Amino acid sequence: QTEISRVRNLEKIQMGKYEIEPWYFSPYPIDFVDSEMVYICEFCLSYYGEETAFTRHRQKCTLMHPPGNEIYRDKDISFFEIDGRRQRTWCRNLCLLSKLFLDHKTLYYDVDPFLFYCMCTRDEYGCHLVGYFSKEKESADNYNVACILTLPQYQRRGFGKLLIDFSYLLSKREGKSGSPEKPLSDLGLLGYRAYWQETIVDLLLEAKEQGKHEANIEELASPSMTAMTTNDVLHTLQNLNMLRYNRNGHVIVLTDAVIEQRERQKAKEKLKGKRSIDPDKLIWKPPV
Ligand code: COA
Ligand code: NA
Repeated sequence: QTEISRVRNLEKIQMGKYEIEPWYFSPYPIDFVDSEMVYICEFCLSYYGEETAFTRHRQKCTLMHPPGNEIYRDKDISFFEIDGRRQRTWCRNLCLLSKLFLDHKTLYYDVDPFLFYCMCTRDEYGCHLVGYFSKEKESADNYNVACILTLPQYQRRGFGKLLIDFSYLLSKREGKSGSPEKPLSDLGLLGYRAYWQETIVDLLLEAKEQGKHEANIEELASPSMTAMTTNDVLHTLQNLNMLRYNRNGHVIVLTDAVIEQRERQKAKEKLKGKRSIDPDKLIWKPPV
């Protein structure tokens, strides 16, 4: 529709303990344009143009986590799987909210064909939504992510990487390589490039330590290794300038520059105490 490319319509939203400035237009009720603040219930994601109505809602709302199955729990991080068809209103609310931070067209109302994987941090008040990705129940193009978002108040803290890693963990369990839906936003591309590079370089470093010096793209891309597409692996290696061509085709070369860059990154991650996904904590079978 033409509506969604319109200019930003909300001044500010409040969600949990955060006040956030939206980036883009999202088709919330038209009279919200006049509200200084739009109040969003951080649990059921319903929205209010007035504080009194919101306060009344909060006294009644009993939801403390996204309305689906908890399929992963590690320390304070949980993932919930939500079926768009079974939780239509909640998922539409999620899409409305995420459109505030997404420039390109997305579907808000037809949520039925999607599953939503929502990442939360848990505390005594409940599970606070940090970010999510949606995934088509059936993707003809082997997409393993449709939309992906870290809420702005949580960005640049490694959560996007966790979401991406989780999406590939699901693909590994499915035994099927995948890639995010195109086109990616600028931020999406930055996040994915960073993830692809780290993942591939770490695997090659590990192999090298084990005395294994041969690697090929198909093997790296396989669901038992990364569950990335061969195309994404190929482009990542090209970006890192790690491909050399000879008579027999190409060879992957782990250059000193790449190794040093990765070592610096790892030191930084350690310093920041960055979280990671533990595959053993995923209790999940591919939906049939
Ligand atoms: N500038 C430069 N690099 C960035 C960046 C930015 N603003 N945001 C992410 N990156 C890169 C960095 O390499 C970063 O690693 P570093 O912080 O160690 O340097 C890496 O991505 C991972 O960052 P991370 O903190 O894990 O990501 P995030 O939680 O900020 O989430 C997105 C990344 C894409 C999910 C988030 O930016 C987002 O939700 N954007 C709006 C929605 C969107 O565009 N989604 C993609 C649609 S296709
Ligand atoms: Na998104």
